[in-house]
Amino acid sequence: MRYATEAELTSAISSLAEPLSRARHVVVFTGAGMSAESGVPTFRDALSGLWSRYNPEDLATPEAFAQDPALVWGWYEWRRAIVHQARPNAGHIAIAALAQKLPNLSVITQNVDDLHERAGTENVVHLHGYLDAPRCSVCQELAPPPEIYEVGEGAPADPPSCGKCGGLVRPGVVWFGEAIPEAAVKTAYDWAAHCDVWITVGTSGKVYPAAELPQVAQGFGALTVQINPESTPLDYQYDYCLVGTAAEILPRILLAV
Ligand code: OAD
Ligand code: ZN
Repeated sequence: MRYATEAELTSAISSLAEPLSRARHVVVFTGAGMSAESGVPTFRDALSGLWSRYNPEDLATPEAFAQDPALVWGWYEWRRAIVHQARPNAGHIAIAALAQKLPNLSVITQNVDDLHERAGTENVVHLHGYLDAPRCSVCQELAPPPEIYEVGEGAPADPPSCGKCGGLVRPGVVWFGEAIPEAAVKTAYDWAAHCDVWITVGTSGKVYPAAELPQVAQGFGALTVQINPESTPLDYQYDYCLVGTAAEILPRILLAV
């Protein structure tokens, strides 16, 4: 059910207070829209999304890195610099505060930024990796992230070499065609199966297997909530679709609990 007007949102949010307070485990599942109000571009928004300006096959696949490592490395370093300049928004801060108020709240994120952690949330699983955790493309050894340096948008930058084997260091993210780290998948499905309330924030629900998690939670009986200013293909799966942004809606949920 969609809640879009001010009156609908007020009543929907107040009716969430009780299930949230009595939940033994609440999961907040976030995508790029979570960080949009911090100034980090999303992927699929029509004008501002990265995939409206770039072709994922040129930048976000192992083949792209093999073909042009400097182009791929430079693009991720450009994004890492944006993330380092960004600050957690009111939505990230509200989630961290909710985690203090509720007995057990965890975050599963598709984002490769650290804005949840910087807002103070401790229990965060990164499904798609993490910009600050580059690793060797050959032996997989973790490499120290370089100091942040200015990379112009689209400018190439040579990746560092692995201290152990000399192979090229690659961004610490999951690319198209790669598997999500096993421990992260296992934890995410486990939480989906056992939580009482599931809150999805700012994801288009188009990238699997992540997009399947809300349905798993619902299948196991969780109350499901989506926060997004737009419709998504998965709207129909949710008990509540709260129409609005992360920084608007999450502080209101915090106040209601
Ligand atoms: P998308 O860019 O696909 O979707 C962003 C969603 O956030 C859209 O549904 C927007 O309507 C919504 N949105 C925009 N601004 C918002 C705001 N202020 N508050 C709340 N929602 C807002 O991003 P993801 O769904 O995260 O994969 O994309 C999934 C994956 O595709 C990413 O993790 C990345 C990408 O390719 C990898 O890097 C492997
Ligand atoms: Zn190596």
